[in-house]
Amino acid sequence: KEIFLKDYKKPDYLFDTVDLEFQLGSDETIVTSKIAVSPGNEAGTSSPLVLHGRDLKLLSIKVNGTELKSDKYTVDPRHLTILTPPAGVFNLEIVTEIYPQLNTSLEGLYRTTGNFCTQCEAEGFRKITYFQDRPDVMAKYTCRIEGDKTLYPVLLSNGNLIKQGDLEGGKHYALWEDPFKKPCYLFALVAGQYECREGSFVTCSGRKVTLRIWTPAEDLPKTSHAMYSLKEAMKWDEEVFGLEYDLDLFNIVVTPDFNMGAMENKSLNVFQSRLVLASPETATDGDYAAILGVIGHEYFHNWTGNRVTCRDWFQLTLKEGLTVFRDQEFSSDLGCRTVKRIADVSKLRSYQFPQDAGPMAHPIRPHSYIKMDNFYTVTVYEKGAEVVRMYKTLFGASGFRKGMDLYFQRHDGQAVTCEDFYSAMCDANNAQLPNFLQWYSQAGTPTVKVTSAYDASSQTFSLKFSQEVPPTPGQPMKEPMFIPVAVGLVDSTGKDMPLTSIYSDGILRTVSNDGQPIFTTVLQFNKKEEEFIFNNVPERPVPSLLRGYSAPIRLDSDLTESDLYFLLANDSDEFNRWEAGQVLARKLMLSLVADFQQQKTLALNPKFVDGLRAILRSTSLDKEFIAKAITLPGQGEIMDMMAVADPDAVHAVRTFIKKELASQLKDDLLAAATSNRSSEAYAFNHDNVARRALKNTCLAYLTSMNEPDVTELALKEYNSATNMTDQFAALAALSQNPGQVRDDALLDFYNKWKHDYLVVSKWFALQATLDIPGNVANVRKLLSHPAFDMRNPNKVYSLIGGFCGSPVSFHAKDGSGYKFLGEVVLQLDKINPQVASRMVSAFSRWRRYDETRQALAKAQLEMIISANGLSENVYEIASKSLAA
Ligand code: ARG
Ligand code: ZN
Repeated sequence: KEIFLKDYKKPDYLFDTVDLEFQLGSDETIVTSKIAVSPGNEAGTSSPLVLHGRDLKLLSIKVNGTELKSDKYTVDPRHLTILTPPAGVFNLEIVTEIYPQLNTSLEGLYRTTGNFCTQCEAEGFRKITYFQDRPDVMAKYTCRIEGDKTLYPVLLSNGNLIKQGDLEGGKHYALWEDPFKKPCYLFALVAGQYECREGSFVTCSGRKVTLRIWTPAEDLPKTSHAMYSLKEAMKWDEEVFGLEYDLDLFNIVVTPDFNMGAMENKSLNVFQSRLVLASPETATDGDYAAILGVIGHEYFHNWTGNRVTCRDWFQLTLKEGLTVFRDQEFSSDLGCRTVKRIADVSKLRSYQFPQDAGPMAHPIRPHSYIKMDNFYTVTVYEKGAEVVRMYKTLFGASGFRKGMDLYFQRHDGQAVTCEDFYSAMCDANNAQLPNFLQWYSQAGTPTVKVTSAYDASSQTFSLKFSQEVPPTPGQPMKEPMFIPVAVGLVDSTGKDMPLTSIYSDGILRTVSNDGQPIFTTVLQFNKKEEEFIFNNVPERPVPSLLRGYSAPIRLDSDLTESDLYFLLANDSDEFNRWEAGQVLARKLMLSLVADFQQQKTLALNPKFVDGLRAILRSTSLDKEFIAKAITLPGQGEIMDMMAVADPDAVHAVRTFIKKELASQLKDDLLAAATSNRSSEAYAFNHDNVARRALKNTCLAYLTSMNEPDVTELALKEYNSATNMTDQFAALAALSQNPGQVRDDALLDFYNKWKHDYLVVSKWFALQATLDIPGNVANVRKLLSHPAFDMRNPNKVYSLIGGFCGSPVSFHAKDGSGYKFLGEVVLQLDKINPQVASRMVSAFSRWRRYDETRQALAKAQLEMIISANGLSENVYEIASKSLAA
């Protein structure tokens, strides 16, 4: 059933307090829920009280203490309806029985490796008890947990522990009370055998908060980076946003089986293992960075998500876009801002742009959904974060902070909408942003075209903009959007020109800051077409457009190749230096793809090699920046720009360029690979991360040549590595080339690490993503490897997800990749629909390929959709993919 934003209605009833009681058994768990209900609308007409529920066995219902007769309520597989509730305030008591050990969907209350764990967002609470399961129903909760003391020594829920004690029969109990009102999706319960690392944080107002990270005993040593990350996050939110933690206890629990990355349950965050557990020997720099970001993300939700939450699930980006933006800023402040920005923009381009151009395209605030779980997307999260970032670009850091302050002042304790956030931002800055709200309702990536002209006689420089928002499913016509374009003008010596005044729309605007010159200005482009004329421009400049990627658009400018090489070498905006290189690389790759398709001999433009050589040799640039700047755009990004995506051609071209660069830049690459070695103990800080990134990027280039001396070097790196970053990078470098060396290295790695399931997941992912013909057979074999487990999402994402991310294997022309995924999706759907639906998404862009591939992929989608007992999750993605 499809649900629409326009149908939103306030709840008929409010829940003021909710007292839960769990009796955890080995087979069944009994849940008692006592709710203080009050009428929601002033009218007071006693409409039926409709509660959501799924897979529940109803044991009893009482209203004001008396058992409700069976003709006073109805039960269907998804609801419990109390037909004529009393007028005014009343107490409701519902007892249900559930079976956590049978719950493989990892939604609601489930068992994993003997422990109990919950996941309620978005609509999992209804699998625990009958409830108005919607975020605008906010209540104060208590939670009493009772269970066997040896099996479940640790009993956790939200808020403060107010009582605990032993019971007869080897049992014990704990009573938790959360003083803050919350929606039920933030409820959490954890019970089982855990140990904790304890830390503490003193808040800005002097309150001491106890911090606990809970894991199985053997993993405890791997939690120190997570604890560091948490403390840094708490400090950062105070410093940057003035936001202080509001309880005396903050818990994090680690679980191996979890559908998503992590969950921000009030004071009881739950994480999948990979986003908490790290040691230098077992986790890479990438893992360390991900942990920092996600620990920050979930912590930041305490204010942006929990204290102020969403009115309905369509508003998800209100909390997710904002919180992703906050975690991006946090990571930037602790690391290197430009490098973080490049990583975030790359992610947007490789994952969000394709979504925005495909059958699942939706605005950051969708208009409808069948299963909300399908809308925890890169669009809602990452594009949503870009939309939040635009406010900061427009209002500056202090204006953005004013907007945030007003947002909390107005809405603390409420469930609100995206307009409420927009209004707070605009009101706090006395601003109007015409057409800005279109970002919330229009899907598709806007394309902005820019043409420039210099007039020497009048010393003016003109930039003419036009915008085009492409049609998307259900939205054939689009309105113009508000697009902030940060611009600088670079003179012939490579310096930024001071900007003095700009003429547009009949208005002359001075750009200076109290007489101080300004070098970057943000143009507010909000019409179909508009011209901006810069005055007092003494020579023809090279414009540096969309600095820092100031809006989530595709930019199509008339910059020439030599302009781009000039910016690559000179732009003061480091992001745009990288970007100039990327634009050049994209153009180059596309033209080589055309050559390849016409069976011409491929040849690499020497200017491109020179440009990259200069970057590689720079001693002033950040090393991680250099690593990013010499990395080619991904295959997906190039396929995205083609009329008919050709995975074989793109793969061949990317491989060709890589090898060609490697051999032409061999000496420089070798120098960088060897001079950036270090025998120091592992440290996760920017200098060290940057050094390793550059070394390992160079190593991958070199190894791609498959020559004995570089293979030797990579083997040496592999064998002498003292941390996982270096070891895994060397393994990945070696794995590019089929043969005995690779097979031996992969086997050696497995034998070294078979006891560590997170490292084994990396090993699965590496093999799944190998770009070698016929890899389907290998991946199929790995499905029955003793270490693989279809019920563990992390392993599925590594092996199956990894496979789908490899264009040559997944899009194998014989359809073997599609057939493989089709089978796996049906198998997975029986176990875990959320995970299955994420996997089936790999098919969604099937129309982008040639006719043969289209027919093969379509056949799999049709096979999936006609399967018996298909989940709504998979149905929604598969049917929308076929329909568009
Ligand atoms: N709110 C969580 C986060 O972004 C994600 C929860 C996802 N749940 C889901 N059913 N898709 O931090
Ligand atoms: Zn989140």
